[in-house]
Amino acid sequence: MRFTLLSMIHKALRSALSDDIIAAQQLEFNHQNALSNYLSTATAHLDILHIHAELEDEILWPLVKENGGELVRKLETDHVKDAELIEQCRAALRKLENSTSAEDFTQNQIALIWEFSELLAFNLMHMNIEEQQIHPLLWEKYDDMELQKTLGLMAGKSPKELFMPTLALFKKSCSHTELSNWYNSIPKEAPIKGMVAEQLGFAQVN
Ligand SMILES: [Fe+2]
Repeated sequence: MRFTLLSMIHKALRSALSDDIIAAQQLEFNHQNALSNYLSTATAHLDILHIHAELEDEILWPLVKENGGELVRKLETDHVKDAELIEQCRAALRKLENSTSAEDFTQNQIALIWEFSELLAFNLMHMNIEEQQIHPLLWEKYDDMELQKTLGLMAGKSPKELFMPTLALFKKSCSHTELSNWYNSIPKEAPIKGMVAEQLGFAQVN
């Protein structure tokens, strides 16, 4: 079995966007704490998705441009559409936050559920294509060690404030084996190693 570079982050994103829809369905007007928590979690999820697409464009696609030019162009176009859908979700979050009455809130809530559903539906198919078609192209040209290094490079370029929310998503949406393999692939000297050990409950060997 070859290394599937996109597996963990895609599991995290499926889980994040599904959770955002379910949690949105349960929100109530004037329950301020629940709404604030929802807004910050959903915003972090949108940020994680947006950065992930940018890192694919910047780091991953150049690796397969030679043997997958047409596919790369399709995925880049998908990412433009994705950015638009993400902006629509952000606008829906702002509208919900600024609801002026219970009725207004209910209308904004259903509109937000539709926006997040569209984003999820689009990304479910988009991620399928990436996993089904990008992984084989990467495997043709690179060994697993090189691909693990590429993943490390992508993680290193992700904003620090998104690390903890991403880790929380990994924890809830990936298998123990996958988490353990990932943890073991992080170099001992990497600053995140201790944090990952603590959050995922792995014993750190010094
Ligand atoms: Fe993508």
